[in-house]
Amino acid sequence: MKAVEIKNGVYWVGAVDWAVRDFHGYETTRGTTYNNYLIMDDEVTLLDAVKSNFMDVSIKNIKSVVDPSKIKNIVINHIENDHASGIGAIMELTPNAKIYITEKGRKGLERFHDLSKWNINIVKTGNTLTIGKRTLMFLETPMLHWPDSMMTYIKEDKILVSQDAFGQHLASSVRFDDEFVTCESMSELDDAVTDYYANILMPFGALIKSKIAEVQKLGLEIDVIAPDHGIIWRAHPGKTIQRYLDMANGAAALSVAIIYDTMWHSTEQMTLPIVQGIRDAGVDCKVIKLRASAMSVAIKEFWKARACLIGTPTLNNIMYPSVAHFLTHLRGLRPKNRMVGAFGSYGWGGGAVKEAYEEFKRMGLEAVEPGLQILFKPSLDDEMKCYEYGKAFAEKVKEYHNKF
Ligand code: FEO
Repeated sequence: MKAVEIKNGVYWVGAVDWAVRDFHGYETTRGTTYNNYLIMDDEVTLLDAVKSNFMDVSIKNIKSVVDPSKIKNIVINHIENDHASGIGAIMELTPNAKIYITEKGRKGLERFHDLSKWNINIVKTGNTLTIGKRTLMFLETPMLHWPDSMMTYIKEDKILVSQDAFGQHLASSVRFDDEFVTCESMSELDDAVTDYYANILMPFGALIKSKIAEVQKLGLEIDVIAPDHGIIWRAHPGKTIQRYLDMANGAAALSVAIIYDTMWHSTEQMTLPIVQGIRDAGVDCKVIKLRASAMSVAIKEFWKARACLIGTPTLNNIMYPSVAHFLTHLRGLRPKNRMVGAFGSYGWGGGAVKEAYEEFKRMGLEAVEPGLQILFKPSLDDEMKCYEYGKAFAEKVKEYHNKF
């Protein structure tokens, strides 16, 4: 790879990680990129570093434009390791560069690096930095998704460097949305956006709405949204912002995600008539078996659908471990505006379905009770009960969906 010019004098100098599949537990089935940006102006300025083991790639890209020792300013929008762990390598090449960072960012960064010899400058929302013909404006975005997070707006080029927001974990040979749509597909890109939002940003819907409102109030014109992961948005940045607003408002399809696991195939057998019942009620349905799917895919499918049915066998009087794992992970993402129910088979004594409802209650989700439990293996009569259960659940989902 080499530097890619975004606008005259503004370059992508990041790295593509085709191989990563475990991103601190998020299963990145499409890999990712670590984006950082170089601005050639009177004062050469770097926006963000990349993950330390990819910093040599970024430095090569910088060198394709300018000698790194010429970098005068480094903006650190976010200190998470995938962006800031490479900062030491670039500081070795330009030790007198001034660093611009939020106060919370500085406090975090000093836990990872010796800052005593670095020229650290604290910035807040609305502060600006003139680097020649260009002015950078900083916008703090605390808890999107870390306390230190901020964005940088390049005023003259109308580029919003948005850090993790508007990103996707998507390795690609191209850098821009219009190129990706041509060489891959819009649906692939859209799916990557949903996947990223569901797995990282789901808890922060209210914050996302308030930050977008703040950007709009500031009257910032945006030609390009340049996130720190994935594809850069230049074709329709307004549509990308609207897409985020829709997701922050809890938009979902009128459909049910059945997310289940099974021990001896009885719970799995229950899913088939339940699917049929849901479909016969006029609602779409998707089935995800947990141990056959990436956790990130299960989270994404949960998020896409207005409702979810959890299928879990009882093991040792509690939920099946993979189901408990999924629900614990989901609880951390603080889902809202979703309807849920649970079903499963049991042997000597139940427990799993009851426990699933306890977890729904902890999450504050709209739970349809009672769940459905079947002893050992579904009989033909039981299969009819499953069908009716699916149909009745779908009717409730339709009513619930109409509220949004
Ligand atoms: Fe891409 Fe929060 O780091």
